[in-house]
Amino acid sequence: MIPLYHKPAIRAVQLEPLAPWCQFFIADQPPKIEQPTLWYDHAGLSLLVTGNSHPFRVDESSLVKRNPSGGGRAQPLSGLGKACGVASAPSVLDAFGGFGFDGLSLSLLGCEVTIFERERIVWLLLSEFVERCGLGVATHCRETMSFLSTNEQRWDVIYLDPMFPQRHKRALPNRGMQLLQNLVGANDLDIEECLQMSKSRARQRVVLKRRAKDEIIGHPSHQILGRSIRFDVYML
Ligand SMILES: C[S@@+](CC[C@H](N)C(=O)[O-])C[C@H]1O[C@@H](n2cnc3c(N)ncnc32)[C@H](O)[C@@H]1O
Repeated sequence: MIPLYHKPAIRAVQLEPLAPWCQFFIADQPPKIEQPTLWYDHAGLSLLVTGNSHPFRVDESSLVKRNPSGGGRAQPLSGLGKACGVASAPSVLDAFGGFGFDGLSLSLLGCEVTIFERERIVWLLLSEFVERCGLGVATHCRETMSFLSTNEQRWDVIYLDPMFPQRHKRALPNRGMQLLQNLVGANDLDIEECLQMSKSRARQRVVLKRRAKDEIIGHPSHQILGRSIRFDVYML
């Protein structure tokens, strides 16, 4: 069970959806903790990690910043939007959801999005955010490869953003990505196998997010290049 601390004023009905996975404790303030722990206050669910007193919350501002019409960091999202062909409002499986920044941004761009995330604590934060904001995105705590290999369900687009292997670089990724790296650890995925499997379950295209300098896998139809990342697009 994942420890979850909550303010005394939080009502049982708010906590009920989390009961199958969490053990509840009451606290006035986020406590000092020794393992990743959840915190629930008036603003919803957030994550407590050792060595940082500020809870991490998935919030809408991260998405708005990534929305081209909202200004800000438009480049990564317009790359993502182009790579996924959002103009035709496709159904998209975001097969490695994380905190959902990419998948939820695609939803804001008009796609019908389903998100899979394997790590329970990450999925809880994601699904609570999606519910709280009424974003209308289906999220599942699910291991992608075993689902795809045992189900015939199909999507127009399958979007793949597995963890990049950690590199010793001076520039750190943003806080959400640093937390994911700590929570989830190294990637154990066979990316080629995942790509093949995804091609057999997508109707229109598979999009693979890579670091700009990573090797190319197979034969993408085209690429959308960003400064530090790129999207390899495999049309079907
Ligand atoms: C790089 S992160 C995704 C970040 C995401 N695109 C975002 O915008 O927040 C990759 C995520 O995939 C999840 N993951 C890794 N292997 C998985 C698998 N086999 N099935 C489902 N999720 C997996 C990890 O737990 C991690 O949260």
